[in-house]
Amino acid sequence: MAETTATPAPQGERKKIIFSGIQPTGVFTLGNYIGAVRHWGPLQEQYRCIYSVVDLHSITVRQDPAVLRKRTLEAYALLMACGMDPEKSILFIQSHNPHHTECSWVLNCSTQFGELSRMTQFKDKAARYADNINAGLFTYPVLMAADILLYQTDLVPVGEDQRQHVEITRDIAGRFNGAYGTTFTMPEALISRAEEGARIMSLQDPTKKMSKSDPNPKGCVSILDEPGVIIKKFRSAVTDSDAQVVYAPGKDGINNLMRIYAAFTGKSLEAIQEEFAGKGYGDFKTAVGEAVVQGLAPIQARYKELMDDKAYLETCYRQGAQQAMRLSGRTLEKVYKRVGFLHE
Ligand code: TRP
Repeated sequence: MAETTATPAPQGERKKIIFSGIQPTGVFTLGNYIGAVRHWGPLQEQYRCIYSVVDLHSITVRQDPAVLRKRTLEAYALLMACGMDPEKSILFIQSHNPHHTECSWVLNCSTQFGELSRMTQFKDKAARYADNINAGLFTYPVLMAADILLYQTDLVPVGEDQRQHVEITRDIAGRFNGAYGTTFTMPEALISRAEEGARIMSLQDPTKKMSKSDPNPKGCVSILDEPGVIIKKFRSAVTDSDAQVVYAPGKDGINNLMRIYAAFTGKSLEAIQEEFAGKGYGDFKTAVGEAVVQGLAPIQARYKELMDDKAYLETCYRQGAQQAMRLSGRTLEKVYKRVGFLHE
């Protein structure tokens, strides 16, 4: 661990700190984008933002090493293409900063077996990957707590599905602070409102979350899908037989399309209802597809540019790791002192 003497600015004087992470498990889906990443760019104007590609987390599920390497760089470039600016924020790759694993070990010892057993993401993944229920999958929330707590994070922008992880982070921080004295800032989840599309569902089975692992590839839109592919996927989206563009319980397919359309046009659900009053689902599905194509076009263009300039990307992630380490080093040093490790 690096030795530092700098102390953080007193509370109240500093900008609030935001931390969030995204796994490099493939191109972001429309769900990742609408529910999470889309909100991260604007936050940079108001907060000190730290965004990480969390490769350490991704190996809790078996990854092909060459594919992981490729996807990590792609995820980093995608973050930048979605508006994350290395001049404004810290953008880094989690495994480049060893403080995360170091802090995670200490926090493991302030986390209970019982509370980890109750995590729904663990239960889901354990069921899905029954032949590889490894200890990392179990302690995943502790690593995530380290990610957040190392930076004295105030706010954690995440999708609804990550709420429980932020809750356990608070429990761990509270327990550590109680035992050793205040060391960590108590973070809060920042979750986008449901009608803005916190939860985007599969286009083929709108009762299930949109996911890269959807058995039907037409259910999931990736933010790098070609325009023609996007339009086709929306045209074949599963809807009910009511044929009215109205947001209502039980109309999962239409509700989902309306949330997507709202996210890309900034229109309210009521305004959308009016816009499509008397029109059929066909017109609506085409309009949603076109809005998505148009909204993603600048991201896709920027992504291509970035991937053509690997040297620039490398400069950015190296600098990001240095900046991240400078901040996390202060917290880790405090943690080591507090628990009683003899100074090196
Ligand atoms: N668990 C998050 C997910 O699967 C990713 C993540 C890891 C994260 N560390 C984080 C999100 C810290 C926010 C803060 O989406």
